Amino acid sequence: MGLKALCLGLLCVLFVSHFYTPMPDNIEESWKIMALDAIAKTCTFTVMGLGKRLRRTYAEQRAFDFLNRWTANTLDAVVVGVDYRLAPQHHFPAQFEDGLAAVKFFLLEKILTKYGVDPTRICISGDSSGGNLATAVTQQVQNDAEIKHKIKMQVLLYPGLQITDSYLPSHRENEQGIVLTRDVAIKLVSLYFTKDEALPRAMRRNQHMPLESRHLFKFVNWSILLPEKYRKDYVYTEPILGGLSYSLPGLTDSRALPLLANDSQLQNLPLTYILTCQHDLLRDDGLMYVTRLRNVGVQVVHDHIEDGIHGALSYMTSPFYLRLGLRIRDMYVSWLDKNL
Ligand SMILES: *[C@@H]1O[C@H](CO)[C@@H](O)[C@H](O)[C@H]1NC(C)=O
Ligand SMILES: *[C@@H]1O[C@H](CO)[C@@H](O)[C@H](O)[C@H]1NC(C)=O
Repeated sequence: MGLKALCLGLLCVLFVSHFYTPMPDNIEESWKIMALDAIAKTCTFTVMGLGKRLRRTYAEQRAFDFLNRWTANTLDAVVVGVDYRLAPQHHFPAQFEDGLAAVKFFLLEKILTKYGVDPTRICISGDSSGGNLATAVTQQVQNDAEIKHKIKMQVLLYPGLQITDSYLPSHRENEQGIVLTRDVAIKLVSLYFTKDEALPRAMRRNQHMPLESRHLFKFVNWSILLPEKYRKDYVYTEPILGGLSYSLPGLTDSRALPLLANDSQLQNLPLTYILTCQHDLLRDDGLMYVTRLRNVGVQVVHDHIEDGIHGALSYMTSPFYLRLGLRIRDMYVSWLDKNL
């Protein structure tokens, strides 16, 4: 029987702070998205105000549990959703280590046998911050000689892959973006590393990287890695180094920010599906990863959703229901069906 795949549906996290965002013209169901945007922003505002994230996290877990069950039934696959320790209680590398531990455990011969999984047909997937973990874990697994069974493919949906440069064209265009604004994205991503407010302050000015990190900027140099269509007429300015008075090792670690992996680490990566959304602060992370993978000969299938917004997969169960979420789900699951 067709018990064939392991899909790690890693959870995504979205948060925000304003209450109204102008909608681009091409957005489907724009009144719904406007309402969602306002609700997301209000909820997050409340929840962050209380210093708790319970409500939001719960809603997401339910949405992803639903998606994982649906995927398992549709593909007749074994799907494992990984729960991991969350910020702000836990910082990097806790989340990465939890993801890696779960995958390594599943890849053990006896576990694959127990669940009747074909070791040659395993996929890792994730969206948003889950896409970050999926990317980092796949890099680690493929480059670890001690792991016998490898990943056949990775599916990365609007993933967050870097914070080295916090002023990419997609950051500029979505500074007050739908669901995810630059300011909130910076606050949230900072919590992955530290509670100290100095990091988001430096990151807003794009001055947070340590002095000795200049060699890493070539891996996220959007003036080279972004296709012209997205680069437009934006002027590239190099981030200023050393604006943070102490050094956080995580900021230069590719396990936290997988776009920082060098070319030899990327070479062994499997077939990759990347989906990016036009109206998304994280758009250029995904686009640059497409370029970097193709540059070293990794096979990449890339879908770009012109009317897409960040985090659409979280909106597939009532009361948060968007056709965009279903469209994205159907696109990548039909791709999995053909390729896995
Ligand atoms: C980024 O690329 C531009 C060329 O488009 C180059 O002038 C600049 O030095 C590069 N910066 C870094 C840090 O690699
Ligand atoms: C790439 O990174 C890995 C892991 O950090 C390192 O061992 C290796 O030497 C690097 N390769 C090159 C060509 O820089």
